[in-house]
Amino acid sequence: MANAGSTLYERLGGERAIAALVQDFYARVFADPKLAPFFAGVETERLARMQREFFAAALGGPIRYSGRPLNAVHADLGIRPRHLARFLEHMMATLADRAITESDRYDVYTRIHRYADDITGNAEIDV
Ligand code: HEM
Repeated sequence: MANAGSTLYERLGGERAIAALVQDFYARVFADPKLAPFFAGVETERLARMQREFFAAALGGPIRYSGRPLNAVHADLGIRPRHLARFLEHMMATLADRAITESDRYDVYTRIHRYADDITGNAEIDV
């Protein structure tokens, strides 16, 4: 099997490729009328830097996330599970547009979805 033994981070192309991927992904999030309002007034340069770091670290890269804890950041934003679902759909669509195997795409999903409760505060009602 090609690339057997490499880490997910390496298979995705390392730091530069993941930075490009995250940029493309968030462009889709900001263009989504159901998600864009959450980001109104947010300082985008810092946000982009933190997102790059977070994703690189979460995907197994040799990078330490230096941002705030995700639950503290998202707690008061009123993000419902349906918003998280759209966010993750954009992430999967971004991955699908690249030459990334299905198995790696779902590996990314698993690693990011792990933080779902931090984002929504585990809001299981009002979906
Ligand atoms: C598992 C999914 C998610 C991850 C891994 C994630 C990750 C992050 C990270 C790393 C930051 C930067 C934290 C910092 O500045 O210290 C951030 C900020 C932010 N996220 Fe998320 N996020 C997720 C889902 C969402 C969703 C679904 C929304 C809204 C629909 C959202 C809205 C925001 C906003 C508005 C900020 C900026 C908050 C501020 O600076 O005050 N996030 N997120």
